[in-house]
Amino acid sequence: MKATANANANIALVKYWGKRNEKLILPHNSSISVTLDGLKTTTTAEFSKNFHKDEFTLNGERKSGEEAKKVSAHLTLIRKMFRRKEFCRVESQNNFPSSAGLASSSSAFAALTLASISALGFNPKPKELSIIARQGSGSASRSIFGGFAEWKKGVQVGGGDSYAVQLYPKEHWPEFRVLACIVSEEEKKVKSRAGMKQTVETSPFYRAWLATVEEDLKKTRRAIKEKNIGLLGKTAELNCLKMQATMITTAPSIVYWEEGTLKAMHAVWQLREEGVNAFFTMDAGPQVKITCLEKDLQKIKQRMNSEGFGKIIESRPGDGTVLSTKHLF
Ligand code: PMV
Repeated sequence: MKATANANANIALVKYWGKRNEKLILPHNSSISVTLDGLKTTTTAEFSKNFHKDEFTLNGERKSGEEAKKVSAHLTLIRKMFRRKEFCRVESQNNFPSSAGLASSSSAFAALTLASISALGFNPKPKELSIIARQGSGSASRSIFGGFAEWKKGVQVGGGDSYAVQLYPKEHWPEFRVLACIVSEEEKKVKSRAGMKQTVETSPFYRAWLATVEEDLKKTRRAIKEKNIGLLGKTAELNCLKMQATMITTAPSIVYWEEGTLKAMHAVWQLREEGVNAFFTMDAGPQVKITCLEKDLQKIKQRMNSEGFGKIIESRPGDGTVLSTKHLF
C-alpha cells in the first residue's frame, strides 16, 4: 500500500483567481498554464492499518498545523471516494523553495493525489485525477498534464465538469522557456486561498477582471498553437497585471511585490525595448517568471544576473504527473 509520484509545478499564463465554490474549489474563470520541468515535487504515500493518524513530512521536516491539515483533508476526501479507512504516511520533497509563489501547491496536490490513490490500488483516468487534485488546490488540476493545459471552469454545481485538459504536449514547443527569478525565499504572508477569497468579496475590479479573461484565453490558445512568443508573452503579462490589480484593490490591500519584483519587471521591459522577446508573469508571491525562447536565454540570464538576481530557475515544458518506483521511505 505504498506508491510514489512525481509532479511538476505549473505556471499560469492565464490566471485562476477567485472561486464560485470554496469547498469544492470551483473557479469563476478558466485558466491556461504550462507545466515546468524544473520545479518538481516527489511524494510517497503509504496507507496502513497500523497508523493511528496521518503524517506529513516535507523536505525532511515533519509538519503540523495548516500544511498537515490540508494534506490530511485531501487524504480524507480520497478515503471517502475510494471507501477506505486506513491512515496515511506522506513524505514529499520539493526541488525548489516552498510557499514562495512558485506554485508549489500545484505540484504538491497533483503528486499527493496520484501517489495516494495508487497506494490504495486504484488507477483512475487523468480527468478524474484532475477533478480530485483540484479539490486539494485549484492549480493542481493542471499539473496532472504535461506541456500546456487548460482548466475548464465548468458550470455544474457539483464540479464534475471542472477539470483540466491538455492543449499540447511538451514536444509541441520545446524552445519555450520560463526563467523564475527568485526575489525572496521567505514564506508569503497571505496564502493564495485567503487572497483570492478576499479579492472576490471586496475588490471593485473583480468583475472587470472576469470580463476580460475569455479574450485572454482565446489569444493564449492561439499563441500556443502558432508558437507565437510575442502574442503569448504580452497576453500573459497583461493578464497577470490585471490579476495583481484586483489584489492591490482588495480590502485590506494585498501586495506580494517587493523591491526586487519591480526591479525585475523594469529589467524585462528594458530587454523588450532592446528587441528581446522577454515577458514576465507573477503569481501570489514576489517571484518574477520570465517567458521567452531558448535562443534568448543567455542574454536574458546575463541581464538578470547583472541586475542582482543570482538565483534563476530555468524550466522548459515538462511532463505531467507520473508514478515512480523510487520511494522516499
Ligand atoms: O492553486 P492555488 O490555490 O495555489 O491558487 C493559485 C493561484 C495563482 O497561482 C495565483 C494563479 C494560478 O492560476 O496558478
